[in-house]
Amino acid sequence: MKKIDVVLGLQWGDEGKGKVVDVLTPRYNVIARFQGGPNAGHSLHFNNKSYVLHTIPSGIFRDGTINVIGNGVVVDPVILAEEIHELEATGVDVLSKMIISKRAHLILPTHRMLDAASEAAKGAGKIGSTLKGIGPTYMDKTGRNGLRMGDVLSPAFLERYNALKAKHDEILRLQYNFEYDITEYEAKWMEGIELLKKFPIVDTEIEVNKYLTEDKPILAEGAQGSMLDVDFGTYPFVTSSNTLCSGVCTGLGVAPTRIGEVYGIFKAYCTRVGSGPFPTELFDETGEKLRQLGHEFGATTGRPRRCGWLDMVALKYAVMMNGVTSLIMMKSDILNDFDTIKVCVGYEVNGERIDYFPFEVADEVTPIYREFKGWNCDTTKMRTYDELPAEFKEYVEYIESETGVSIGIISLGPDREETIVR
Ligand code: IMO
Ligand code: MG
Repeated sequence: MKKIDVVLGLQWGDEGKGKVVDVLTPRYNVIARFQGGPNAGHSLHFNNKSYVLHTIPSGIFRDGTINVIGNGVVVDPVILAEEIHELEATGVDVLSKMIISKRAHLILPTHRMLDAASEAAKGAGKIGSTLKGIGPTYMDKTGRNGLRMGDVLSPAFLERYNALKAKHDEILRLQYNFEYDITEYEAKWMEGIELLKKFPIVDTEIEVNKYLTEDKPILAEGAQGSMLDVDFGTYPFVTSSNTLCSGVCTGLGVAPTRIGEVYGIFKAYCTRVGSGPFPTELFDETGEKLRQLGHEFGATTGRPRRCGWLDMVALKYAVMMNGVTSLIMMKSDILNDFDTIKVCVGYEVNGERIDYFPFEVADEVTPIYREFKGWNCDTTKMRTYDELPAEFKEYVEYIESETGVSIGIISLGPDREETIVR
């Protein structure tokens, strides 16, 4: 029986998952999302065009693929319908290539309002959420109040929708004193539901396991990143799902013994969008240089991303918990023009050195850096590992020796072609 391969982000999201899945998809028939929702923004570039996917798996552009929205995903019908329309306008036949789990939870318009109200109430302590309603939807899921995709097929759907909406209304009014008007969004939401009803809304866990017995290669596509995992990330500045490899089992309904390769994606440096600890964050011109060269602005919200050097402590923690079998290094070209490149190899906390990711990352955590000589040349046209400059290889080999995992793919630019597969 085939195993399910996994690709996921090892940092704070935005590692370049869209591009990697797009590069890997020729090897797979099935691409499946297992967690998260429209808080994700997976960018793909090919034929001189850019696309951003939020809910739809990144296999959608390849003919002959099946794209699965798994039970662990939360779906906003407005955003998903917009994605479908945009893809169809460019000639992608989404309808024939996508299936949706009956068990995926629905993001209601009032979930978005709850997200906004909760963030506003937190004031300076806000998470910096994408405000897509992710947290409140997962809260209703674990609180056993949620509406699921399969419910849209029930004659009692509207009744259930109105009951949950009424519950939210009460919280918004009484707890948050929050004023809002969702009339327009709600109308679009109902239109979105009608569009989604045209898709197969099925028991995707049965389908996925059937593909496995049929030896169809499957790739699970993670969203967000390991350091945003609700259990192991920088809580409470995290997302509301398990972004780690273990999320594949619960988010698609596959057994742990069915997990195959785990591709861990990281950027050659670090970014974070939203609030929360980020030990290697740079507040100087070097950080600004990374942001400008790396176009580090959110694909979902347009917010400028916080930038800093690669954090090996966090990376090793993520590699450990995901059981990464192969590393993928993204955006290494952004470092082409630096005399010195730094990597955080440990933290100093209260005068003591630690080399693990602590329970709480307070301001007193000072990164300890190792310096590498920059390669200072344009690598974007290089297509083999041998062509790369010695300093570049030293950086790669250092990361490999520290993590104990080899780097199988190196990305040298946004385009599909600008990739070295070793
Ligand atoms: P992709 O898949 C980067 C961050 C938000 C915020 C926190 C919680 O494109 O890598 P949420 O909306 O989930 O309640 O926000 O998580 N966040 C992301 N950061 N990339 C993402 O997805 C993210 N999805 C959520 O900025 O700090
Ligand atoms: Mg993103």
